[in-house]
Amino acid sequence: MSKIKLAARAGKTDISGIRKVFDLAAGLKNPINLSIGQPDFDVPETIRQKACEAINGKLNSYTPTQGRADLLAALNAKHGNNYQSGEMIITSAVSGGLNLSFLALLDEGDEVLIPDPYFVMYKQLALMMGAKPVYYDTYPDWKLPLEKIESLITSKTKAIVIGSPSNPTGVVYSADELKALATILDKHDIIAISDEIYDIFCYDQEFASIADYYRDRTLLLKGFSKSHAMTGWRLGYAAGPKELVQTMAKFQQFTFVCAPSIAQYAGLEALNVDMGKYVAEYKLKRDKIYNGLIGHGYTVEKPGGAFYIFPQVPWGTDEEFVAKCIENQLLVIPGSVFSEKHTHFRISYAASEETIERGLEVLGKLVKQ
Ligand SMILES: Cc1ncc(COP(=O)(O)O)c(C=O)c1O
Repeated sequence: MSKIKLAARAGKTDISGIRKVFDLAAGLKNPINLSIGQPDFDVPETIRQKACEAINGKLNSYTPTQGRADLLAALNAKHGNNYQSGEMIITSAVSGGLNLSFLALLDEGDEVLIPDPYFVMYKQLALMMGAKPVYYDTYPDWKLPLEKIESLITSKTKAIVIGSPSNPTGVVYSADELKALATILDKHDIIAISDEIYDIFCYDQEFASIADYYRDRTLLLKGFSKSHAMTGWRLGYAAGPKELVQTMAKFQQFTFVCAPSIAQYAGLEALNVDMGKYVAEYKLKRDKIYNGLIGHGYTVEKPGGAFYIFPQVPWGTDEEFVAKCIENQLLVIPGSVFSEKHTHFRISYAASEETIERGLEVLGKLVKQ
């Protein structure tokens, strides 16, 4: 049989490196799993009940492309009614928002500024669009490198992606850093795509958004996957300049059609549920993993948010070190899945205390080759 003639973009994108780790780990009997990018708690009960109510109440059809009007209104109220009609759209989670915004903004050859380390989708989506990801290196402390960012801007730069709190580093940007970035972006007329999916997981300072300083050219991307453990429900939203959001709505018509109707109905309830106790638990887990790593002699920045920590590998490359971890039943992710460098690894502490303790024990043993 002749070979299938796939599109050129198929060759430009790689399968997720995280999947490769899962393949390696498939044979493990009792793995210590610190690789998972989702909360280890379940969707709160009242939200689950609302989803059942939606199904049983026959709310199973399409919603408007833009999303349910009552959910849009409730979300806008959360933002102090800062958005006018047409400036917000319910998306199939933040992935949906990223896809639609990249489709709406990036042409072949355009440049998009992406942090390194990055969430995998930023790079792969840019490549799928034929755009060029230009990395702003945030090593070794993950802070926003303002001068570097400005020096990377060219006439082809359309947008910058900002992720705070970040996957994989857990860094949280301060209001002052974001204000300074807004001044640079304003000078060069660059759109900010602000991925705020981990916004509730901030442990040491209040969450800050660049939208507060750069309202007219920021696209906010928010979601329920991490904050409410609704990863499989595919619910999120985007808010920003009308022209951009309406273009995303046009593309939504021909791609996702609408975000899942059941999740949208339940999302209304999610807005009433206080997730504070879960965040407090994750703060304790953050402290446990950070103190444990420092105690074992790892070089690592204390993450201010999300549920990841990104230490330097103590020896070898990230792949060599992670292969050794997996030999010892410990699942973590090589840093190069999220970076152009091979020097770090990602731990997710969205796991039970016992799992974190078992993981630290292995890491203590492996710190010396
Ligand atoms: C930084 C970041 N953005 C976006 C996503 C996509 O999440 P979802 O599509 O479930 O909203 C993830 C998921 O891991 C993430 O870590």
